[in-house]
Amino acid sequence: MTLSADAFPADEIPAIKRVMMPRDTNAVGTIFGGVILSEIDLAAATEAHRHHAGMVVTVSMDKVDFKRPVQVGDLVSFFTETLRIGRTSIKVKVAVWACRRFGEGIHEYVTEAEVTMVAVDETFQPVEVVRREED
Ligand SMILES: CC(C)(COP(=O)(O)OP(=O)(O)OC[C@H]1O[C@@H](n2cnc3c(N)ncnc32)[C@H](O)[C@@H]1OP(=O)(O)O)[C@@H](O)C(=O)NCCC(=O)NCCS
Repeated sequence: MTLSADAFPADEIPAIKRVMMPRDTNAVGTIFGGVILSEIDLAAATEAHRHHAGMVVTVSMDKVDFKRPVQVGDLVSFFTETLRIGRTSIKVKVAVWACRRFGEGIHEYVTEAEVTMVAVDETFQPVEVVRREED
């Protein structure tokens, strides 16, 4: 799979799918960017856990450009793709699409991010990624 901004990945199962509610809005009535960033972070962690059973933390999230606003009522999908598994880190691409439920259900690309998660032990020190059997 290669996630692209050009086409809604209809055949893929998103890591997270969420309806945006009025509590998620900013001062101008659209969805607060921080809410989307939070879900991107969770989606990346979900993807990282497909490869590593232990704890992971976020070490880096690259530049995030919001191309389209997200509205209350939109069904937002967070698709993930593993880009690289290093010694202790897992780099994940997250692509965000909004389904305009009050606008004929069209899908619009919102943003994407590359997030690096690090496997850590109970003292929060980096540890080697322990690949799951199905990997
Ligand atoms: C994650 C953390 C344990 C890494 O510690 P560190 O001393 O940088 O560890 P290392 O230098 O050994 O790097 C660990 C891995 O992260 C990668 N890494 C470190 N900084 C990175 C960055 N800015 N971007 C991308 N990858 C990075 C390294 O390349 C390495 O990957 P590899 O083993 O697969 O090659 C430490 O930075 C930390 O605790 N950060 C806070 C995490 C957190 O709390 N996140 C939630 C935000 S509130």
